[in-house]
Amino acid sequence: LTERRHDVNGREPFPHLVVRPIEAGDEERLRRVFHRLSRESIHRRFFTLFPEPPTALLHQLTAVDHDQREALVVLDGDELVATASWDRPAGTAGEAEIAVLVEDSWQHRGLGRALVRMLGREAVQHGITVFTATTLSDNRAAIRLGLAAGRPSRVDFDGPETHMTFPLAG
Ligand SMILES: CC(C)(COP(=O)(O)OP(=O)(O)OC[C@H]1O[C@@H](n2cnc3c(N)ncnc32)[C@H](O)[C@@H]1OP(=O)(O)O)[C@@H](O)C(=O)NCCC(=O)NCCS
Repeated sequence: LTERRHDVNGREPFPHLVVRPIEAGDEERLRRVFHRLSRESIHRRFFTLFPEPPTALLHQLTAVDHDQREALVVLDGDELVATASWDRPAGTAGEAEIAVLVEDSWQHRGLGRALVRMLGREAVQHGITVFTATTLSDNRAAIRLGLAAGRPSRVDFDGPETHMTFPLAG
């Protein structure tokens, strides 16, 4: 995965976008994305709001070891327009939690679905068999994305939050 840089093309309708693993040097690109995101999107991804993206958060988002944590970014030229990641906490070898963020002006065009599909393919190669995701219960886009991406084996509506579990195709 580290070596792979390719166009999001083929069946995806984004011939000029490039997807690659996140890098430490993406912190400033991420900071710029935050300035273009709506408050709603920030809240839906991080379950909180902040006036400025905390530097520690930007650092955390770009810190991947390609084993316990992986993240992909989508670039439109030099600008980052979407990112998706999986994390597997210690002790949960076959299970990883995913999170996805697509810049507002790029939402609802299939990018989230394409990213989750790519992330799933990479995760399987790391021995991950199950993705989990937690979203706000009123986040219809995220729930639809989860339903579209992996036919969940379990959906728990837990008040303001919804937890989804979906197996990955081996
Ligand atoms: C959730 C999110 C990642 C979806 O990404 P996206 O690129 O817009 O999604 P896609 O275009 O691939 O669409 C995926 C599914 O969501 C649906 N969808 C997308 N935007 C939607 C909206 N605003 N309202 C309702 N459904 C929506 C699509 O119709 C599609 O479902 P379908 O195949 O059944 O039609 C994106 O909206 C986002 O980044 N939101 C803010 C952060 C967030 O909520 N992250 C998820 C929690 S970690």
